[in-house]
Amino acid sequence: RDYDLLVVGSANADLVIGVERRPAPGETVLGSDLAVHPGGKGANQAVAAARLGARTALLARVGDDAHGRLLLESQRAAGVDTGGVQVGGAPTGVALITVDPSGDNSIVVSPGANARLTPGDIRAADRLLAGARVVSAQLEIPLETVAEVVRTRSAGSRFVLNPSPPAPLPADVLAACDPLVVNEHEARFTLGDAAGPGPEDWARELLALGPRSVVVTLGAQGALVADGRTGTVVLVPSPRVDAVDTTGAGDAFTAALAWRLSLGEDLATAAAFAVRVGAAAVTREGAQASFPTAEEVSAL
Ligand code: RIB
Ligand code: NA
Repeated sequence: RDYDLLVVGSANADLVIGVERRPAPGETVLGSDLAVHPGGKGANQAVAAARLGARTALLARVGDDAHGRLLLESQRAAGVDTGGVQVGGAPTGVALITVDPSGDNSIVVSPGANARLTPGDIRAADRLLAGARVVSAQLEIPLETVAEVVRTRSAGSRFVLNPSPPAPLPADVLAACDPLVVNEHEARFTLGDAAGPGPEDWARELLALGPRSVVVTLGAQGALVADGRTGTVVLVPSPRVDAVDTTGAGDAFTAALAWRLSLGEDLATAAAFAVRVGAAAVTREGAQASFPTAEEVSAL
C-alpha cells in the first residue's frame, strides 16, 4: 500500500484569541492579538501523522483563497500528499477559537468548503482509498460523505472515526469503526440517556453499539481502550505536562493511534504511544504548530 494513513476530513483556518475568560451573552471582553493558524480536525490529523513519520495523504476541500493556500502549504511542509485536496466551491472553513489561561478552548466552526466535500469526491478518489492501510475520518464534513468512505474503502483497510462534532451515527458507520475514538462529550452524546456513570461504563456501552473497538480519551488522565474482540477495557495513563493550549491535542492523539495501528500494533500499545503525542501537543500553542516529531515524543 502507498499510504499508512489516509485522512478524510476538514481543513480550517483557526482564528485564535487568548482570553482571561469567555464573554457572557451580550458581554464584550478584550483578548490577545489575533493568531491565524492552519487547523481543522482532518488537516490536523494529517500533519500530526506525517510529522511522526507516517506516509500520509489528505482528502479534503479548501476554498480558492488565502486560507486555503495556508492550509495546503502546511500540509506540504509536513510531507502530506495533497493530491486529494480539492480547491474551490466555497470559502475555506474557519474556526473561531478562544483559549483561556488554563489552555482550554471553545470553538465555533464555519464549515465553508468542508461542507462541499461530497460522496462524489470520495468515489473520485478511489486510488487514494485503495492505497491506504488505515482510513481516518471526523465529522466536520457531511455525514453522507463519511458513510461513502465506509462503503468505498478497500476491504482489509482499517477505519478510525472521531465523531467530532458529534452527530447520530448510522449502524453501518458504527460497525466499521476500529476504533471509535470519543472524548467525554462525544461519548455522552452518542450514548444519550443510556450513558452510565463513568468512562468504563461508556466504553462498554459504546462497544455494544457495534464498533469493533472503542477509545475514550480522558484528557490529562489518558485514555480508556476497549477491544470488542477480547472484551477487555484498559486504562492507558498520560504523562503529566503543563497545558498551554489543548487545541488539536485530540487530533494528534487520534492520528498517532491510527498510524501505529497501520504498523500492526495492538490497540493498547498504539494508545500508549498516542497519549504521549497528545501530551506533547498541549505543551505548545496552536494545533498543527504544536505537534511533535517522533524524536520529541521519545524525549518526553
Ligand atoms: O480539533 C481542533 C480543531 O477543531 C481546530 O483546529 C479547529 O479548526 C476545529 O476544527
Ligand atoms: Na496545542
